[in-house]
Amino acid sequence: MTPGRRDGGAVGARILHVVGARPNFVKMAPIMAAVEEWNASAAGDGAAVRFGQSLVHTGQHYDVGMSDVFFRELGLPEPDHYLGVGSGSHAEQTAEVLRRLEPVLLAERPDIVLVVGDVNSTLAAALCAAKLHIAVAHVEAGLRSGDRSMPEELNRLVTDQVADLLFTTFAGANDNLLREGISPARIHFVGNTMIDTLERLRGCAVTVGILEQLAMSRRAFALVTLHRPSNVDDPGRLALVTEVLQRIAEWLPVVFPVHARTRARLQAAGLLGLLEARPGVVLTEPLGYLDFVGLMSAARLVLTDSGGVQEETTVLGVPCLTMRTTTERPVTVTEGTNRLVDPCDGDAIVAAVVEVLQAGPCAGRRPERWDGHAAQRIVAVLAQWAGSGSCSSGPAGVAGVAV
Ligand code: UD1
Ligand code: UDP
Repeated sequence: MTPGRRDGGAVGARILHVVGARPNFVKMAPIMAAVEEWNASAAGDGAAVRFGQSLVHTGQHYDVGMSDVFFRELGLPEPDHYLGVGSGSHAEQTAEVLRRLEPVLLAERPDIVLVVGDVNSTLAAALCAAKLHIAVAHVEAGLRSGDRSMPEELNRLVTDQVADLLFTTFAGANDNLLREGISPARIHFVGNTMIDTLERLRGCAVTVGILEQLAMSRRAFALVTLHRPSNVDDPGRLALVTEVLQRIAEWLPVVFPVHARTRARLQAAGLLGLLEARPGVVLTEPLGYLDFVGLMSAARLVLTDSGGVQEETTVLGVPCLTMRTTTERPVTVTEGTNRLVDPCDGDAIVAAVVEVLQAGPCAGRRPERWDGHAAQRIVAVLAQWAGSGSCSSGPAGVAGVAV
């Protein structure tokens, strides 16, 4: 399908969206839905901008449980192009996205390529479009951990430099971008589309029977997700994590949906069987979104190194311990329910868990504009950009839209 055909009508601007990995799907779904809504409300208004949109899936994540289930549960359309890039080293994965996306962009010539987040597919798609002089919109721009040993930090830095429209989730991200010399006219503080999805689906999530399936009771278990290379790629660090989970399980059941990377590393280090056999530890495959959000909402606490989970627990009001020394999402600590714990210090992690259990209810507050309407703000900015003629004249920023 070519951009523009999806809406079946006259088109003002053609958007090509690119996703590749699990968190991308969660961030993208509300944007595509908001474009549809915009088109429906613009129907009959000859002067209003209308959009065509199409979707590329790079195939960075490809297992049913890491990809297909999200398309189904989040209502994402079938991708118009599936690049089948799969796994590999950073260079291989990034290069394959560049190589396989270029002919798609040349054939489709969208007005703008929209990317989300900070995975290798995000960086590669942004670079590929920029080199073809196609405008780039980056959703979740301006996050900075300050730690360039994280692959995501490099992806964020480069993506933001080549992007024409930068959509941010909190005011501090605007400051980060301004410090890097990005024009304020290109930066738009819109809120968080991952939270749009959470707001839309959390009602469905709590009704699912995942607690019964896993024999867990509300507020009586810890939910764990880990996949950062810094925590799982080094066998010594992984052994420490494994030991910590076993210690916690002595007094609080642990549910651990194991990311594909982490399962491979646990297996290679000979630790998978140990955890599987440990009473009080329940390992599962990566869970679908509804099951996972259902569990997150009911957990006593969450122990994680995920980016998105730090944000979702803040909105759900569930205590979150992030096993990292930095976070690119400081608003989840200053305003939300998140706390960083040193991933190299097993005693400190266990002590933090004990503190959470002894503390009263968690009193986080919802960050500004995390209200379920970020995608609509993004589409309003895109419409202004398209209406300003930028889409035919190449990359250009537009002045901030009041939201
Ligand atoms: C990627 C992102 C990370 C993001 C995470 C979300 C980069 C550099 N990293 O990390 O920022 O937080 O996704 O989950 O883009 N694998 C499978 N099946 C799959 C996908 C992966 O078995 O469907 C295994 C493969 O062994 C692969 C490994 O997981 O080598 C890592 O996958 P990869 O996409 O390279 O990075 P993630 O760790 O998933
Ligand atoms: N998630 C999920 N199932 C799981 C683990 C996570 O649906 O088993 C969801 C989670 O709720 C969030 C997203 O996946 O919406 C976060 O993805 P991930 O942690 O893989 O990536 P990150 O946010 O760290 O880049």
